[in-house]
Amino acid sequence: MSAPAPALPADLTAGLRRLKLAAMRELAPELLLTAKTQRWAPEEVLRTLIEAEIASRDASNTRARLKAAAFPVIKTIEEFDLTASSIPAPTWDYLTSLEWIGAKENLALIGPAGTGKSHALIAIGHAAVHAGHRVRYFTAPDLVETLYRGLADNSVGKTIDTLLRNDLVILDEVGFAPLDDTGTQLIFRLVAAAYERRSLAIASHWSFEDWGRFLPEHTTAVSLLDRLLHHATTVVTSGESYRMREARTSQGGRQNKS
Ligand SMILES: Nc1ncnc2c1ncn2[C@@H]1O[C@H](COP(=O)(O)OP(=O)(O)OP(=O)(O)O)[C@@H](O)[C@H]1O
Ligand SMILES: [Mg+2]
Repeated sequence: MSAPAPALPADLTAGLRRLKLAAMRELAPELLLTAKTQRWAPEEVLRTLIEAEIASRDASNTRARLKAAAFPVIKTIEEFDLTASSIPAPTWDYLTSLEWIGAKENLALIGPAGTGKSHALIAIGHAAVHAGHRVRYFTAPDLVETLYRGLADNSVGKTIDTLLRNDLVILDEVGFAPLDDTGTQLIFRLVAAAYERRSLAIASHWSFEDWGRFLPEHTTAVSLLDRLLHHATTVVTSGESYRMREARTSQGGRQNKS
């Protein structure tokens, strides 16, 4: 075993601490020893230290963005079985390229229970976080509740501004619960504020003609859909529920064992 690397001189440690260069401080003793033994060029030492600091900050920023995204579970693109889904491969390629987020376009996934809408939204959101985007996941009732809270102290505008600091706002389970007039107005304000400025990705059981079922105010519903769908990819997820299919498979498995 080689001897442990000598500690950095105290003034260097203090300086790196003050500049909050934690990754450099941690790596430096070992690296300086290696660099001396292997006669590294001085700029190579500096480069390695800087790269370590950048990698460590990127990782910690990603962790912070992932936490802020508030995904209910983690689902990934790799876990998504495209062959078991009705989403066409070219559409999936476009969505997972995340280009549409840069272009401030929207995404609407429409389909029945268990057809992978939430999985797709979260997987794309997760990839977007890793690509450096700021993302926030909500179910529609959670978003309405958040905005409702702002009504009491007149801070709805501020709440929407804060939400739109994200590059992508995900609204899952749109239409599971009916909205009252105020809820509709609040969602409309968010969609209108995000229009051509930020990406929204939504999932719903209801095809757009049926949105009147949970958006009671017809004119607002039309204006909302108009903005939401102007620059949007709409994907219909169809077929059997993946949950039912898995339930059947695992039941079959159990039967086989007995
Ligand atoms: N194509 C797929 N590949 C892998 N897993 C899938 C796929 N589609 C669905 N699943 C899995 O099946 C389960 C149900 O999918 P998901 O929650 O995305 O459905 P949903 O369309 O959002 O349903 P609901 O409308 O009830 O919310 C999840 O565990 C999800 O990971
Ligand atoms: Mg869902």
